[in-house]
Amino acid sequence: MCGLVGSVSASFFNRVRRMGRRRGLLWSGWIQCVGVYEEVRARGRPSGKIGVRMRYDIAVLPGDGTGPEVVREGLKVLRAAGERAGFSCDLHEYDFGAERYLRTGETLPDSGVEELAGNDAIFLGAIGHPDVKPGILEQGILLKARFALDLYINLRPVKLYPGVETPLKDKGPADIDFVVVRENTEGLYASTGGFLKKGTPDEIAVQESVNTRKGAERCIRYAYEYAGRPDRRGKLTLCGKTNVLTYAWDLWWRAFNEVGEADYPGVTRDYAHVDAIVMWFVKNPEWFDVIVTDNMFGDIITDLAAMIQGGLGIAAGGNINPEGTAMFEPMGGSAPKYAGQNAINPLAAISALQMMLDHLGQKEAARWVEAGVIHAISRMDSLAAGKMGMTTSEVGDVVARHVAEGAVTEEAGW
Ligand code: IPM
Ligand code: MN
Repeated sequence: MCGLVGSVSASFFNRVRRMGRRRGLLWSGWIQCVGVYEEVRARGRPSGKIGVRMRYDIAVLPGDGTGPEVVREGLKVLRAAGERAGFSCDLHEYDFGAERYLRTGETLPDSGVEELAGNDAIFLGAIGHPDVKPGILEQGILLKARFALDLYINLRPVKLYPGVETPLKDKGPADIDFVVVRENTEGLYASTGGFLKKGTPDEIAVQESVNTRKGAERCIRYAYEYAGRPDRRGKLTLCGKTNVLTYAWDLWWRAFNEVGEADYPGVTRDYAHVDAIVMWFVKNPEWFDVIVTDNMFGDIITDLAAMIQGGLGIAAGGNINPEGTAMFEPMGGSAPKYAGQNAINPLAAISALQMMLDHLGQKEAARWVEAGVIHAISRMDSLAAGKMGMTTSEVGDVVARHVAEGAVTEEAGW
């Protein structure tokens, strides 16, 4: 009984808070909340933990190329996880991407941003099309969403699963298990700078790195919190360039140490220059637990990290505003060559979905999905598109079935 009351009231407060924030109408939160109460009463005690919500609004952006195929498999797994954990999702699909752009000239309009903001999370397939000039969709959709929704954390777990091939000699799953927390709204991505005397022999181009104390600190705090999670090892490495970029990294260095000293004494602090960290990723990846870095360095080091965890078929990421919405995506891109062939690997999208569940507080469901991914890997010939020994939808079926059946996966340890 206690659990039921706890669950209802937590949902109640979440719902009221969120609806209030979204629409500025407290009473609509009331109505929603009564709905949640009825739902819980009708179903009996939910299997989720006390305080875990039972219904989510999810924006779905299948996007271009193979995006829709991998999103479809992700949603299959989401449904299985929801049925087992006792939560449901209202899916809201949007067609932002190359086709819409080619048809209408629109990338992500302001009204779209507003609609996305009303969701608990956004599930993105891929954007990119051979007929669209590089940069337009990246700037117009991905970067616009990051900035407009203030998705200031870019989270990239880097984990080598059993049976996945890594190019690193003599390294296995015990050695490659870290998380990169990349600042996602500032630095060189802030788009400040300009040209002088453009097009002349005296042309000057300036591209500035913008680092605010607030921006660095909120990212650093998120990383400390992450390093303190029970499933991490309590070590946080700042990845910077304090020896050359002496303004930006002085600010980061001070924020990192001050915040750590004052509020996270239980987390071990560590530092590595960015040029050294790429060396250590290859030689000693086992040194790393959680890494925090700026936007540009994070962009670069996470691509190397994707390769050591088995490639783009498995790498997933999240663009997160811890106080607002968050967008989860596979890192692989739209792979137009494989579009429509049922040959692309959906595991990165399914892993992105796992991150989404973890972010939404459905921790147990997230672990089931991870167990399903590990199980699927054990049955696949390869993670590479067209060489999996299974189709895209078969891989999704294997994961979804595993999640639905709740089979214990020894490899994952639960
Ligand atoms: C990433 C991508 C993006 C970035 C591009 C597509 C704008 O490379 O998410 O890492 O540079 O951040
Ligand atoms: Mn990148």
